[in-house]
Amino acid sequence: MNQNDRPLVQALQYFNEQTPVSFHVPGHKHGLLSGLPHKMRQALTYDFTELTGLDDLHEAEGVIQEAESLLSDLYRSDRSFFLVNGSTVGNLAMIYAACRADDTIIVQRNAHKSVFHAIELTGARPVLLSPPWDAHTRTPGVLTPDQVERALAAYPHAKAVVLTYPTYYGIAGEGLREIIELCHSRSVPVLVDEAHGAHFIIGEPFPRSAIEMGADVVVHSAHKTLPAMTMGSFLHVRSDHISEKKIAHYLQMLQSSSPSYVIMASLDDARAYVASYKDNDKRNFVALRFSFIQMLKRIDRLEIVETDDPLKLLIRAEGHSGFALQAALEAEGIYAELADTYQILFILPLWNEQFTPPLQAWKEKMVAAVTNLGKVGDTPISISLAAWPDGISTLAYPPISITDMETEWISMNEAEGRISAASVIPYPPGIPLLVKGEEIKESHIQELSALMKVGARFQGTVRLAEKELFVLK
Ligand SMILES: Cc1ncc(COP(=O)(O)O)c(C=O)c1O
Repeated sequence: MNQNDRPLVQALQYFNEQTPVSFHVPGHKHGLLSGLPHKMRQALTYDFTELTGLDDLHEAEGVIQEAESLLSDLYRSDRSFFLVNGSTVGNLAMIYAACRADDTIIVQRNAHKSVFHAIELTGARPVLLSPPWDAHTRTPGVLTPDQVERALAAYPHAKAVVLTYPTYYGIAGEGLREIIELCHSRSVPVLVDEAHGAHFIIGEPFPRSAIEMGADVVVHSAHKTLPAMTMGSFLHVRSDHISEKKIAHYLQMLQSSSPSYVIMASLDDARAYVASYKDNDKRNFVALRFSFIQMLKRIDRLEIVETDDPLKLLIRAEGHSGFALQAALEAEGIYAELADTYQILFILPLWNEQFTPPLQAWKEKMVAAVTNLGKVGDTPISISLAAWPDGISTLAYPPISITDMETEWISMNEAEGRISAASVIPYPPGIPLLVKGEEIKESHIQELSALMKVGARFQGTVRLAEKELFVLK
């Protein structure tokens, strides 16, 4: 197959050049009725629908099928899908395809909320595995084969193991292949949320992709690390356990019947970008990244932390929280992916050979930001690592059953030992600190208080400003 082809992009381009007359949806009629500013409106001239020659995502047999086949060819899957609702919908579909109500499913504890939402919707019973704390990045890491082996021994009827690889902070670890082999030796499928690893297919210096290591289903947020539009994602299946028909069935139910052609075209383009990424591109990326890191290291008081994924960089400012550093950088027009108590996270561009970023201009802005941080920092509060629960845990109730139970708001100080009726999710990164149905421990309360002090933002049913938690009566 010719990976330089972009069948869907080419079809939209051709259609657009015919200056077609629209008596169909969408109502903006190629942008004509839109009041959007000129540059935004230009994108609408490609915002078509399932017209003759443009195929249909849900019954693909034309240009979308060609584009998805190229994707599958690149990632060596049995079948790959375009997703227009992010990895969120990929996680929902893969978990629906693997289990039903009351089934046991083994889940890495530091998973994205969409994994927990899928568990709630299916009515499955999660067994949560907490990976060891990674002291280098000061975040939860990835599971070890030993942990998964113990969980499989304790829950031999588990319908699947759901992993997050790499973590948001770029930790990949070394045990994934062994974990996959362990699970397969017991006929348990491995579902991998590889939202942050669509570029791993490039190979070194990046970690290996879970799909290459034999995972059954792998989900990629193409929009996170490849040049795809927000919401554009991929799902790949290569499995003896999970049927691609089932995945297609759930995706049809969970995704819009009017998927955005602009998002899908950007997926076709992102696939071509990564497929054409060659050794000279890698060399340019590695050299630029090296110069960038050296430049950052020369800025007084900055500490640079590298992780397994070279696309991710953590930056700490001595004596200041990540939130303070984030605010100082934003004042200079530099936006990080996220901040936490200790650091900010940068996601670098997947520079190819053609890029020469303005490193000097960036340096000046960063120096100004660090100078503005001032000398007296809001020293990060040290979060007790006990807050990160160790080993295997289960929920007091499956999340699906909570919706019908009696609930109340109570003061955080009185919440220890109660059952949380809602997930509490620091966002970003979107990993629940408390899962709906989980028993609240003192360590949870300590960590919540510490995060609130340093200005973390939360999603979920929260009244943290009032210092209250939502619990079962
Ligand atoms: C690990 C992980 N999985 C899944 C998602 C959801 O991805 P999307 O935003 O593409 O729906 C995210 C989003 O941040 C994530 O970090």
